[in-house]
Amino acid sequence: MIFQRGSLILLLFPVYFVNADIFVNYSGFNIKVLEQSGKTVVGNVSNLDVDPNSVKLQFAEIKEKDSNGSEVGKSMIPPHTFSTFTKQSFSFSNTTNVTYQNITATMFNFTANLAPINATLRTSVYLFKEEGKVTDANETTNIKVGNVKFIINIMNWKFCGSSGGVNCKQGSTGEVGRYIDFSIVISGNRSASNATKETSDGDVYNLGGGAGIILSKKVKYDDRNWTNMTTGYPKMTTTGKHQMFTFRLENFNTSAQYSLTVAVGNFDGETGNRVGSKGTTVSTTVRGNGSTVGGNGTTGSGKDTTISNTIRNSSNTLSLSFLLTLLSICLFYFCST
Ligand SMILES: *[C@@H]1O[C@H](CO)[C@@H](O)[C@H](O)[C@H]1NC(C)=O
Ligand SMILES: *[C@@H]1O[C@H](CO)[C@@H](O)[C@H](O)[C@H]1NC(C)=O
Ligand SMILES: *[C@@H]1O[C@H](CO)[C@@H](O)[C@H](O)[C@H]1NC(C)=O
Ligand SMILES: *[C@@H]1O[C@H](CO)[C@@H](O)[C@H](O)[C@H]1NC(C)=O
Ligand SMILES: *[C@@H]1O[C@H](CO)[C@@H](O)[C@H](O)[C@H]1NC(C)=O
Ligand SMILES: *[C@@H]1O[C@H](CO)[C@@H](O)[C@H](O)[C@H]1NC(C)=O
Ligand SMILES: *[C@@H]1O[C@H](CO)[C@@H](O)[C@H](O)[C@H]1NC(C)=O
Ligand SMILES: *[C@@H]1O[C@H](CO)[C@@H](O)[C@H](O)[C@H]1NC(C)=O
Ligand SMILES: *[C@@H]1O[C@H](CO)[C@@H](O)[C@H](O)[C@H]1NC(C)=O
Ligand SMILES: *[C@@H]1O[C@H](CO)[C@@H](O)[C@H](O)[C@H]1NC(C)=O
Ligand SMILES: *[C@@H]1O[C@H](CO)[C@@H](O)[C@H](O)[C@H]1NC(C)=O
Ligand SMILES: *[C@@H]1O[C@H](CO)[C@@H](O)[C@H](O)[C@H]1NC(C)=O
Repeated sequence: MIFQRGSLILLLFPVYFVNADIFVNYSGFNIKVLEQSGKTVVGNVSNLDVDPNSVKLQFAEIKEKDSNGSEVGKSMIPPHTFSTFTKQSFSFSNTTNVTYQNITATMFNFTANLAPINATLRTSVYLFKEEGKVTDANETTNIKVGNVKFIINIMNWKFCGSSGGVNCKQGSTGEVGRYIDFSIVISGNRSASNATKETSDGDVYNLGGGAGIILSKKVKYDDRNWTNMTTGYPKMTTTGKHQMFTFRLENFNTSAQYSLTVAVGNFDGETGNRVGSKGTTVSTTVRGNGSTVGGNGTTGSGKDTTISNTIRNSSNTLSLSFLLTLLSICLFYFCST
């Protein structure tokens, strides 16, 4: 009976069962990324969405600016700007075991084609299984078990007014893009406050509830060396418990790479990402040249559970969400009456 009714619902709302999100779990530390929007949650409990201490990251906007910081390309069709990612879909790689700067990690990529302007946004995610140190340019960050690093690449963005770029106009005036301001909204248990620098040479913030984030101040453009981000960036804007972090990327040819780190579990505002404690570091890096991040697929040690490495159309996940959905429909609409 239950299954007949469930099957009926399935026929009526088949799209309800499509679930291509990714969930990666290592030793109690969890990362979830939604296929639609790329919304990311990191925490140390199974039910990430109801945990007030989990850290949520959402790509917010990408705006192209001229040398005065005024937005350009707004009136282009399609516009040279992304002000929401809620309708953007992402695809996932498989998860693999790698080493990143000699630290074992489980990693995966999630990638979006920013279709209107044919640019690519790729985020590489590393969930570390060991402690150690990660150094980009002269900037070193202490890594603990469960820390997660996100490496973000923006690739093939065609700037307004650049050679090989786009001829953007506001009325009859040509526009020249000098920067991309890329923003991510990050929220935790409470609004971010500065934490000590012991954890990293980057900017360190405490989010409360045992969580923190570490924002690199370095950027890599194309195949060039790491450089300091433009003065005044990363820039934080706070609204309640949410804060938007804006990363300013200077005009590049093919790619820009940036990284940030988020810690959950036992991050402490005074002593930072403490040695010996558990913590999750989520680190995002925008990659410059599409080169491989991390090692060569070396198998790490320790308990590694990928609950659902869900690629589009994965039959396992479909059947799991199918069963779970049948059960919830049953519980809420049928079985209780
Ligand atoms: C991680 O996955 C394992 C295996 O599915 C599960 O037993 C455990 O509860 C998960 N841990 C958390 C914190 O979700
Ligand atoms: C993931 O791994 C499976 C099995 O090894 C393989 O069939 C599939 O093509 C891989 N998917 C991607 C996106 O690499
Ligand atoms: C990498 O890790 C191994 C084992 O932990 C260690 O023996 C080796 O010295 C490390 N190499 C570097 C370059 O840190
Ligand atoms: C989009 O970008 C890809 C790779 O950069 C390129 O091969 C393709 O031709 C581009 N498509 C359009 C419509 O510009
Ligand atoms: C917090 O840290 C940032 C970056 O280091 C700095 O610019 C800012 O002034 C600090 N804010 C406070 C309130 O200390
Ligand atoms: C890049 O860094 C390397 C090593 O630090 C240095 O030798 C080289 O001169 C740098 N290149 C540029 C263009 O700054
Ligand atoms: C790294 O340190 C060297 C020597 O102190 C300095 O010349 C260089 O500019 C620094 N690089 C960055 C990206 O800060
Ligand atoms: C980058 O910033 C660091 C720290 O503020 C500073 O020591 C270094 O000289 C800067 N590098 C360049 C190339 O400006
Ligand atoms: C999980 O995180 C909470 C803070 O949200 C912390 O109190 C707890 O000790 C952590 N649990 C583990 C097993 O690390
Ligand atoms: C993630 O993307 C990078 C760059 O394209 C690639 O080298 C790496 O193999 C990808 N990882 C997986 C698990 O597909
Ligand atoms: C992969 O890494 C392992 C351990 O560091 C090393 O022994 C092996 O030679 C590497 N393989 C390749 C193809 O680089
Ligand atoms: C990664 O390594 C662990 C052992 O540490 C293993 O259980 C797991 O299956 C591996 N995952 C992948 C995707 O290869």
